[in-house]
Amino acid sequence: MTGLKITSPAKTILFGEHAVVYGYPAIAIPVSQLKTTITIYPNPLGKSNDITIIAPDIGLHKNLTSLPKTHPFFTAFDVVCHHLGITSYPSCTLKITSTIPIASGLGSSASIAVSLIKAFSQFLGAVLPPQTITDLSYQVETIYHGTPSGIDNTVIGFEKGVIFQKEKKVQFLEVGKPVSILIANSGVHGKTKEAVSGVRKRWEQDKTKYETLFEKIGTITQQALDSLKTGHEIKLGLLMNENHACLQSIGVSHPKLDLLVNTARSNGAFGAKLCGGGLGGNMIALINPDHSEEIQQALKQAGATQTYLTKIESTSL
Ligand code: PMV
Repeated sequence: MTGLKITSPAKTILFGEHAVVYGYPAIAIPVSQLKTTITIYPNPLGKSNDITIIAPDIGLHKNLTSLPKTHPFFTAFDVVCHHLGITSYPSCTLKITSTIPIASGLGSSASIAVSLIKAFSQFLGAVLPPQTITDLSYQVETIYHGTPSGIDNTVIGFEKGVIFQKEKKVQFLEVGKPVSILIANSGVHGKTKEAVSGVRKRWEQDKTKYETLFEKIGTITQQALDSLKTGHEIKLGLLMNENHACLQSIGVSHPKLDLLVNTARSNGAFGAKLCGGGLGGNMIALINPDHSEEIQQALKQAGATQTYLTKIESTSL
């Protein structure tokens, strides 16, 4: 039987993670090589209000209403029904799979949240605009992450490179020329919630030090925007290195991330940094695509479990 198929990409944060939680801008791009896929099959003979969820990656095969009300899948359905004012719906089976490594700073939870919102709303007959999908998926993201900045669901909801700042209208990324980004997984599980709460605790203990570092990350992000516009890769690489140093100073790197960052740099990358919450997960390197093979090999020798090549490109508005 054919079903309704929805996909959402992964994402990576190019500049500004953590500082974005404190109101500074950050830049993120979708990574379409990795994705969440949801397929919905209607059950014409099923009882109404009966939805089966199958997520083989996490061993889940259940009726939606048997999930706890705080389960992200349940919340996603609840916020869509609430938004559309729907209380009764036809039976269906929803299958969720993802190629995005979990807990890796690549937005796996936001990608699932966005996909669920899109899938449920389309199943219920509504094609929602990206801003609404983004807003509704933020409510789901709060279950995974507490008080996320909103950058993940925004870049994935719009599927465009974004300049994101809390409380401001999202802006879309414009670049002078496409540049290549190599993503490498450290193989250590990232711990976004722990990283964000650790930073908050240390910020509370030493606000002057942390405000200075966040402000520095904000300045680096602004300078990176200029370098992206002019296509100045050398400058952009140096800014990545500076951003990584700030992330080390706020205590969210990991020895394996530092090793991969140094390996990328010493094998010809323009610059490199960890991406996302940190304490594990992925790093990104700005590279000349002609050197991609050597750098990927060096990263794998240094312990990277996966590498992915992607591009920063302008996104049509
Ligand atoms: O680890 P990720 O991919 O969920 O990224 C988290 C980004 C932070 O800035 C650390 C947190 C946030 O909510 O923006």
